[in-house]
Amino acid sequence: MKKKLLSVLLTVVMVASVFTGCSKNSSNKNEGKEASTTTKTEESSSDTSGGGLVGVAMPTKDLQRWNQDGTNMEAQLKEAGYDVDLQYASNDIPTQVSQVENMISNGCKLLVIASIDGDSLGTVLAQAKEANIPVIAYDRLIMNSDAVTYYATFDNYMVGTKQGEYIKEALDLDNAAGPFNMEVFTGDPGDNNAKFFYNGAIDVLKPYIDAGKIVIPSGQLDFATVATANWATDAAQSRMENILSSYYAGGTKLDVVLCSNDSTALGVENALAANYTGDYPVITGQDCDIANVKNMIAGKQSMSIFKDTRTLATQVVSMVDAIMKGGEAPINDTKSYDNGTGIIPSYLCEPVFADLNNYKELLIDSGYYSEDDLK
Ligand code: BGC
Repeated sequence: MKKKLLSVLLTVVMVASVFTGCSKNSSNKNEGKEASTTTKTEESSSDTSGGGLVGVAMPTKDLQRWNQDGTNMEAQLKEAGYDVDLQYASNDIPTQVSQVENMISNGCKLLVIASIDGDSLGTVLAQAKEANIPVIAYDRLIMNSDAVTYYATFDNYMVGTKQGEYIKEALDLDNAAGPFNMEVFTGDPGDNNAKFFYNGAIDVLKPYIDAGKIVIPSGQLDFATVATANWATDAAQSRMENILSSYYAGGTKLDVVLCSNDSTALGVENALAANYTGDYPVITGQDCDIANVKNMIAGKQSMSIFKDTRTLATQVVSMVDAIMKGGEAPINDTKSYDNGTGIIPSYLCEPVFADLNNYKELLIDSGYYSEDDLK
């Protein structure tokens, strides 16, 4: 079993590393977007030295990516011989807290948590710590809790810098005269990632804003003003509608909208579809959600950051496996993520961007989506 697992792991890691730069460590087979949820067999359970129940807490089913994350985690953990308690919390914090409580009382040996609000799990995680249950923060860092053992994510600051660089290239900011009109939409203030995305992008664009080459007609730029509660599409849409009617009514051209992710970009695109007649601006996104990739193909979104959820799942499964066998999890970052109790040892996967030029290779050839998904 070990040998078989190893060869499967190597294959997947090789495929995944081509696209995301996550190249080390063990992994499991999971080639399709909808991972097969193979149930644990007698053979795999008896062959696994570290098997046990692993709790996986995901924030919501409303956003496509978390469905993929959950499916991939469950499939890959089962394939590695673990039982899985996978829960979604409908973006409701008390629901997530009680799901984690149940995981602890149901005998989970390790918890993998993508938090809804990074600050709301302290009390329940104190129980986990008391019971010696290791915790891996998945994608989003859990703040102000010393129960967090490891963190696995894509490099969130790099997500932002890639969005900023994309805008810089698309508008040729170093050479074009400008000025260009820009608006900004970022994510939920309770999600520690949102600030990293925002800072990464603004660090790239700030010199051009300071030089007057990028202007923001609404004046809305500071993080709190451009944050979007729950990353909600309709909230982004209504803010964009207000901006359009207040600042762009007289035919003012909108050149670019920096959106931290696809759910906010979709809101912006919906607002533009109903209220804006000029050429579509450059719009950034993240996640390569199907609706957004379709918009990209239709010329309504310029790019999206691709974070292959299979790769993150693979990485986390290798961390789970190492911890469950009494070892240390593989990490590659010990400086970026302080959760308020100290630095959390992290594994950061590398994000890439997808646009019209490379989406087929990244998304279809890799098996993430089928052609039909994008029709
Ligand atoms: C994730 C993004 C996602 C956003 C909204 C962030 O924490 O890193 O990939 O778009 O949450 O769910």
